[in-house]
Amino acid sequence: MTATAITSDTKSHEELVDEKIVKFYLITALIFLTTSMLAGILVALQMIRHNPFAGIELFSPGRWRMVHTNAVAYGFLANGFLGCLHWAIPRLTLQPVANKKLSWFIFAAWQVVVGATAIGILLGEAQGLEWGETPVWIDPLAQVGLLLVAINFMTPIARMKGPMYVSLWYFLAAFVWTFLTYAMGNFIPEYFVSGTSAGAVGGLFIHDLVGLFVTPLGWGLMYYFVPILLKRPIWSHGLSLVGFWGLAFFYPLQGIHHFLYTPIPLFLQYGAIVSTIAVELVVTTVIINFFGSIWGNAGVVRTNLPIRWFYTGMIYYFLTCLQCAFQVTLTFQKVIHFTDWVVGHAHMVMFGVFSMWIMGMMTYLFPRLLGRNWASRSLCEWHYWLSTLGLFVMAADLILLGLFQGWSWAALEPWDASVDFSFPFWVLRVIAGLAMFGGLLAFLTNIWLTFRAAPVTAPVKSGGLLPT
Ligand code: HEM
Repeated sequence: MTATAITSDTKSHEELVDEKIVKFYLITALIFLTTSMLAGILVALQMIRHNPFAGIELFSPGRWRMVHTNAVAYGFLANGFLGCLHWAIPRLTLQPVANKKLSWFIFAAWQVVVGATAIGILLGEAQGLEWGETPVWIDPLAQVGLLLVAINFMTPIARMKGPMYVSLWYFLAAFVWTFLTYAMGNFIPEYFVSGTSAGAVGGLFIHDLVGLFVTPLGWGLMYYFVPILLKRPIWSHGLSLVGFWGLAFFYPLQGIHHFLYTPIPLFLQYGAIVSTIAVELVVTTVIINFFGSIWGNAGVVRTNLPIRWFYTGMIYYFLTCLQCAFQVTLTFQKVIHFTDWVVGHAHMVMFGVFSMWIMGMMTYLFPRLLGRNWASRSLCEWHYWLSTLGLFVMAADLILLGLFQGWSWAALEPWDASVDFSFPFWVLRVIAGLAMFGGLLAFLTNIWLTFRAAPVTAPVKSGGLLPT
């Protein structure tokens, strides 16, 4: 559904969407994902004492772990979302972005920010703030970049006529929240507060990055793409707004749940616990809405791969939030804190949810951007199955291991014992990671083959999946 009326002076797709920048964003996102996955494999190999670069400072796993997380968050997810927004917002508002040259400037500046972050980290200049490792001298540039992103995308939303569809609520909120979240996390603990106050702000920053940057963009895009692909409206617009306002109200309160049992005042810890559980209820309303939308037509997941990616991500989203509602309790924290449970959870949400959605959107968009149907349906299937099963194995492996580690430590067994029994689980993580990487290679190969194939004259088929 578009929120504005289509009239005779409505601009064409070509006038609205700069397809070239969408393509550049998506390809850059994939380059960063490849880098990040290779870094993940390197760190995972280190854990099983097979680091191929042992002793070389530049390849130190401590540094590459930060490259892994930063490249995935700011290089893959942010670029992926920005590319998809360049497609969705102009089509949804029937207005182009504020300035197409500004879009290109932001694109270039963002790659400088992410590239310089990786180089700064490798040279040992990381800041001691989780997810805010970006070297100090890059922070102001990133902050200005986020302001420009907000101006560029909020202008078409401000110019559009008619009621605002829920995707635009999410996008507007994300632009404001991301700007504020970045400022809070990268300047307040750095220059203004210290000790437990800095810890509390750091906790808010970590979680708000997930909840107020990635989540609203992800859901906003799902509310845009899913009805288009299903060719039917979203089940309940009322429920979609419950989801939005629930997120707005409860999510910002959660961050301190990263630091339970610390000297941060207990009322803040309890507040974080209650709001985390509340978010699970909000999430349930969103999931019900999307499953209501596909009800009676679920067989479409067999043939329409973007929809399959989207709904797989939603199932992982539900699971990860359900897991959150338990792991946030003090009882659970006693066991799982500092264990691999958390790493399993992190992969399930970052890869299982948001990356799956981006992969679905890419699967839909690439054929349209390249003007060709996918060269190989089976490579699309390999991409999906290797990613989904690889992630499932990795998450299950680490979550289970986390419980064993927690119980072992609680029983005051020697630390070495937990390292010893973790070993086979870490081997399995490498295998699962290689499967996920194999899925990515299948996708990259397919893009290359599609790029080299002859262009189609007829419109790209729904889902863009059919081999010619
Ligand atoms: C080739 C596949 C991958 C492998 C082998 C891998 C491996 C790893 C390893 C070894 C760590 C460090 C864990 C520790 O410090 O104990 C890690 C952390 C992390 N990875 Fe991956 N990873 C992979 C793919 C991904 C992807 C695709 C994403 C996101 C889309 C991701 C997101 C994360 C996050 C968020 C963390 C931080 C977890 C935490 O701090 O608790 N990883 N990964």
